[in-house]
Amino acid sequence: MERDSDNTQQVKPDKPGVYIHTFGCQMNEYDSQKLYKIFEKEYQPVSDVTQADLVLINTCSIRDKAEKKLYSMLGELRGLKRERPGMMVGVCGCVAQQEGENIVKYGRGVDVVFGTHNLSLAPSLVQLRKNGAAPQVAVNYREEWEELPLGFADVDLTKNGQKQHVTSFISISRGCNKSCSYCIVPTTRGPEVSRAVEEIEREARIAVHRGSKEIVLLGQTVNSYGLDLQPRVSFVALLERIAAIPGVERIRFTSPHPQEVRQDLIDFVSSNSKMCRHIHMPLQSGSDRILKAMNRNYRRDKYLSIIDALKSRVPDMAITTDIIVGFPGETEEDFRQTLDLMDLVQFDNSYSFTFSPRPGTAAAAMQDLLSQDEKAERLQVLQRKQEEMTARRLASWVGKEVEVLVDNRNLNREGCLQGRTSQNVMLNFDVPYEGLKIGDIVKARVVAPKRFTLQGELIR
Ligand code: SAH
Ligand code: SF4
Ligand code: F3S
Repeated sequence: MERDSDNTQQVKPDKPGVYIHTFGCQMNEYDSQKLYKIFEKEYQPVSDVTQADLVLINTCSIRDKAEKKLYSMLGELRGLKRERPGMMVGVCGCVAQQEGENIVKYGRGVDVVFGTHNLSLAPSLVQLRKNGAAPQVAVNYREEWEELPLGFADVDLTKNGQKQHVTSFISISRGCNKSCSYCIVPTTRGPEVSRAVEEIEREARIAVHRGSKEIVLLGQTVNSYGLDLQPRVSFVALLERIAAIPGVERIRFTSPHPQEVRQDLIDFVSSNSKMCRHIHMPLQSGSDRILKAMNRNYRRDKYLSIIDALKSRVPDMAITTDIIVGFPGETEEDFRQTLDLMDLVQFDNSYSFTFSPRPGTAAAAMQDLLSQDEKAERLQVLQRKQEEMTARRLASWVGKEVEVLVDNRNLNREGCLQGRTSQNVMLNFDVPYEGLKIGDIVKARVVAPKRFTLQGELIR
């Protein structure tokens, strides 16, 4: 999901510093990791932008608000650049791909711009600029998977300073071949390109070697993986290969597109013990009329049938989703159908947004009669409903036994740890347990629900 992060590292005096600020989704997080790796020979990560000699902003364009964040950040950096004349500023990610040259024109003080298919060019662009060339821009699409160094940089992208790498995110495809009428991603990431199975496998093995227990496979429509490979590989075949790697204890993926969820995926997810009992499957709307206008080629019945198939096999499967409210033409009745579908599914959680028109998309040209206030009101109704639903779902865990992967310190309680259940719910331990450590997979009993998390006790 969209979130911001920076890196947390101690500064060593020998190398210049690189600071990467990441907006947007987990795919951007993954790319930022790769950028640290790409630059690791010449630069060391720094946690404080004022100590950086190279600042990269990995941008997101999914909604207007996300794009605006780039421009306010560039404003701040211009000031910093006056104090640190040698500092280089680079813009990459989805806004870079979308705007290219415009960023250099607007940005004044931007030294390099590189798109989502040109990460490997970044060091040479920076070098050219350092040698006195004009600001550099590289935003060409590639038809093949861009080879980047395998593995992970030794840097933590989360804000709490923990460096355990219990979970590793691995991109398995780039881009998207769908054309949802509201979405900018096919423009910013290009057509879908699958990564070779062997590469993914190798990266998963590296992840295990550095201590990962959980692998999260990433793609815009992760379940259409492999259709472009020669020979074709199905997503389920990839899951089987990852599940066969010794040391991989848990597998997640995000996000599957409902249109391409077939029986083989349902069977595998519900029968393989390494597959987590959680699926994040974007719904967008519960109204068939709006789904059609969104060019989402499934209908509410299909969505519900997938959920039924999963829940009948795995009753404790957690279901989360993404929803857009206020799409052009959405009536009260359409909105009511979304709320109704939420009732039917009983989502454990959802990420919801008001529709944001994006440049060049079909929906941006559609007649949009709802005011911003009306959209905001619908969003509030929906989010309140979700909060109640989430609270009920969390309360339903009390007294039950769950499996927890311990992945962090409990930041609110000295000496205690926390983890995540197979359903991806955070569970806090409120007492320290002798011998329990990050990376352990343990059984716990849920004692109480919190607002978004659970409190539990260790079962020995
Ligand atoms: N590939 C994923 C979605 C990635 S974008 C999928 O198809 O499921 C993440 C979420 O952002 C989307 O699921 C959608 O809910 C939201 N989103 C995308 N474009 C948007 C827009 N123009 N306005 C509001 N929300 C949008
Ligand atoms: Fe965007 Fe649709 Fe592709 Fe998801 S499937 S990235 S929403 S175009
Ligand atoms: Fe944003 Fe690009 Fe991801 S638009 S959500 S960073 S694919």
